[in-house]
Amino acid sequence: LDISLIGVPVDLGQSRRGVDMGPSAIRYAGAIERLKALGHHVTDEGNISVSPVHNLSCNEAGLKNLTEVTEATEELAATVSAIVKNKKFPLVLGGDHSIAIGTLAGLAEHYTNLGVIWYDAHADMNTSETSPSGNIHGMPLAVSMGLGHEQLVNVHNKGAKINPENVVIIGARSVDPGERQLIKEKGIKVFTMHEIDCYGMSAVIQQTLNYFASRQVDGVHLSLDLDGLDPLYTPGVGTPVPGGITYRESHLAMELLEDANVITSAEFVEVNPILDEYNKTADVAVGLMGSLFGEKLL
Ligand code: ARG
Ligand code: MN
Ligand code: MN
Ligand code: MN
Repeated sequence: LDISLIGVPVDLGQSRRGVDMGPSAIRYAGAIERLKALGHHVTDEGNISVSPVHNLSCNEAGLKNLTEVTEATEELAATVSAIVKNKKFPLVLGGDHSIAIGTLAGLAEHYTNLGVIWYDAHADMNTSETSPSGNIHGMPLAVSMGLGHEQLVNVHNKGAKINPENVVIIGARSVDPGERQLIKEKGIKVFTMHEIDCYGMSAVIQQTLNYFASRQVDGVHLSLDLDGLDPLYTPGVGTPVPGGITYRESHLAMELLEDANVITSAEFVEVNPILDEYNKTADVAVGLMGSLFGEKLL
């Protein structure tokens, strides 16, 4: 593959500082060397420029740093779009999950029926009305479906970027009441921890692949929030939720996706080195990238 790596040092979508150092932590954990060792061509496009200044402003709808998040996701969308135009594989390093608004907006320009895997403890489907926190990192999936604050919905291009019926959430175990309602209303496919426990990760990925095949998607974006894993393995995240996906299950998921050869873009988000234990979470992220991009045990 021809991979373009892009860092997004944004910690504005939530209230715990330090996740803006995620791209550095992931690079430091050896992402580029790991991918090159697998025979891929890797270009580090550097970081999106984000103002380090926080005025911690809330707009009238109670969204934190709305202006700053809008600016950063606009720039990311343009960058991702250019990478796809150049026939390269975009690999986005966060940053908090609000950046997915930009990634998906950039991708949407090039796909008419994009599939999305949302690997996460959360659904990230709050709107300005339902958000319990005002944190935009709890909203990107709703925003990308065209729901929520119009300034975010209209990043890069007006309106919805993805079809709710093309979304598969894996690992959910912390869903707010408003999100639950939206999931039902929009018919989002969700494999909660319950389904992972019952059927196993292998069946969950197989069903995900079957679902995308039936939807006739023209690409699949993997949006991987490191809090999807159990905090035992990835403690360096801002909103840890116990009872999560294991290290082995996550590697299996990546290996099966790689075998199926369906992933056309990916992002790894919410790595916060300040909350981490000796960069453990970035190490896990890079290990998962290894599996996703073709590393084999033998
Ligand atoms: N549902 C909560 C909220 O809206 C938590 C969201 C956590 N999102 C994340 N990307 N870690 O604030
Ligand atoms: Mn910052
Ligand atoms: Mn999450
Ligand atoms: Mn998330």
